[in-house]
Amino acid sequence: SSEMSENGIIFRFSNQARALGEEGYRLTVTPARIVLESSARAGLFYAVQTLRQLMPPGWETGLPDSSSTWEIPAVQIEDGPDFPWRGMLLDCCRHFMSVEFVKQTIDWLAFYKLNRFHWHLTEDQGWRIEIKKYPRLAEIGAWRTEPDGTRHGGFYTQEEIREVVAYAAERFVTIVPEIEMPGHSRAALAAYPELSCTGGPFEVANQWSVFKDIYCAGKEETFAFLEDVLTEVMALFPSKYIHIGGDEVPKVRWKNCPDCQARIRREGLKDEEELQSYFIKRMEKFLNAHGRQIIGWDEILQGGLAPGATVQSWRGVEGGIAAARAEHDVIMSPHTHVYFDHPARFKGLKRVFSFQPVPQELEPAKAGHVLGSECCMWTEYAPQDVVNTRIFPRLLAFAEAVWGASSKSYPDFWRRTAEHYQRLQAAGVEIGSEGRPFDLEVRLVPGKSAFKVVLKPQEPGLDLFYSTDGSAPSRASGKYERPFEISRTAILKIQAYWGERPYGELVEQPLLLHQAVGRKVQVAGKLDEREQEEIGRLTDGLLGSLETHDGLWYSRKRADLNVEIPLGKKAKVKKLRVRFIQNTSRRAFLPTQVDFFLSEDGFEFKSVGSCAHSVPVLERGPLIHEFQVEFPSRPAAAVRVVAKSLSVCPPGHPGEGEDAWLLADEVVVE
Ligand code: ACM
Ligand code: ZN
Repeated sequence: SSEMSENGIIFRFSNQARALGEEGYRLTVTPARIVLESSARAGLFYAVQTLRQLMPPGWETGLPDSSSTWEIPAVQIEDGPDFPWRGMLLDCCRHFMSVEFVKQTIDWLAFYKLNRFHWHLTEDQGWRIEIKKYPRLAEIGAWRTEPDGTRHGGFYTQEEIREVVAYAAERFVTIVPEIEMPGHSRAALAAYPELSCTGGPFEVANQWSVFKDIYCAGKEETFAFLEDVLTEVMALFPSKYIHIGGDEVPKVRWKNCPDCQARIRREGLKDEEELQSYFIKRMEKFLNAHGRQIIGWDEILQGGLAPGATVQSWRGVEGGIAAARAEHDVIMSPHTHVYFDHPARFKGLKRVFSFQPVPQELEPAKAGHVLGSECCMWTEYAPQDVVNTRIFPRLLAFAEAVWGASSKSYPDFWRRTAEHYQRLQAAGVEIGSEGRPFDLEVRLVPGKSAFKVVLKPQEPGLDLFYSTDGSAPSRASGKYERPFEISRTAILKIQAYWGERPYGELVEQPLLLHQAVGRKVQVAGKLDEREQEEIGRLTDGLLGSLETHDGLWYSRKRADLNVEIPLGKKAKVKKLRVRFIQNTSRRAFLPTQVDFFLSEDGFEFKSVGSCAHSVPVLERGPLIHEFQVEFPSRPAAAVRVVAKSLSVCPPGHPGEGEDAWLLADEVVVE
């Protein structure tokens, strides 16, 4: 045909490309022309994305002057996705995300050939979608008062939602809205408390937790309300699937509610699990009657799965496997691999790259039920301005996992990311950490006042630079070649580099050589296995970080701390200190009081001081508070520390009355 004799970029619908599927395409670049072929528009769109990625980084943001040229390689590519469902969840509730930001996010999803945007719109901490019939959802439910008194919130008008849905559709991205039920509904209940079991009143939550107050499953008004809400949702979102949440549903209110109990009896249900199942099935019936299908988190398996439900497996892959075996469709989102809110040092790029949506143990005959996967960006700890540092670069590895990597080699993938970094940075995207670049082992050298430092790089080709004098390590600092010793109190700082670019986060480990370092800690009573393993953390010379799970905190559940530390020889002591961490969403609270004692003979202890603090009991944290006493130097053979625990979560905390934790750091004796 005439097109073949001309230069140009040619788009062509082609029957021959049919075998590649509607999202598949063929891309041919020769010195004369570029030809993009697919059997459908989606495939042509993805051919364009590949073409964009073949262009030099930065070409979209910086037009070259007339003398410069763009070069792309001559290629013949036939390509198509491994999975039809390739998505990302963005939680716009814990922190509100602007329409502009949501659109930018959708742009990047499309660029990396993802086709679902799971829009998490309702939560305990905020209701984000305008519902005309229930105006208080936006007026009240969209705003919360933070513990510091400031207000946070926002919602999307229906007009804005239409705009975003259309924007996504132009990029072959389907938006799947999530309206949470019956749990994660505190913001709705703050607006309409009559839909709860107790009647409220409630405030929009300002803490991260699972809340007991949920929609009442006994009252008809709840179902009428949710059907009205979903009617407006369906009018806004053409998606065949509507996500109804279903995760993390405490049953305590239902157990004590006359309406819920009457419903259980009337419907012949066994228990509250079956009541949850009744709830979801009833909503499914409503949505099915309007031509839609439901997706729910894997908890909807409890008490019996709704007949046509698609299950999104997040607590692991087990729920997804069970659902697929029962012939239900599945979206795999195991938190172990694709929760981008989790720090990259625990769930790094490599882990995401290794993710396989179809688990090994699933029978091949059922594998077809795995539609694909969504990565999840929850935003408890991520306001809009840091979200990109969590999504990137991990989204690149995720895209490989769901589209189908051209190579399953991580080093090859890593090599290919370099150009994408330039592209993302040219577009102003802030890229976060790739993961934990090395394992750090610091141990006391037996019989010696020194720490031995061993670093184990997790990637070939990384250079590790460290300092011990508090300065920031750089490529000009000491380069790690082999294990070394530090025989003084120091702050060890380590930064990995991949070429010129820092790789992963700066690791900072304070080391303290003090009188109790390496001493055996004694406790009255028996320690369980975990406590035995952890107790050495009180005298290991290592200070803990703001991360409660960093392996450096000693934890007590619903109990005080009461320890004795023999100093081995009589020492002169003038200062005692110990730090505790508070993080209310982890149920870790500071002690109400810490008492310090010294003994000259190791038997009889005398008080040397007592410390309280003025941190508000519900201060969210994470924060570290140090308790310390100083006194004229005196001889001592042993130290005793007693810290009073709250034992249970205090009033005003979502876990009120349940186990509280006490987390202690190093007992520093100077
Ligand atoms: C979830 O992470 N609760 C779905
Ligand atoms: Zn009830």
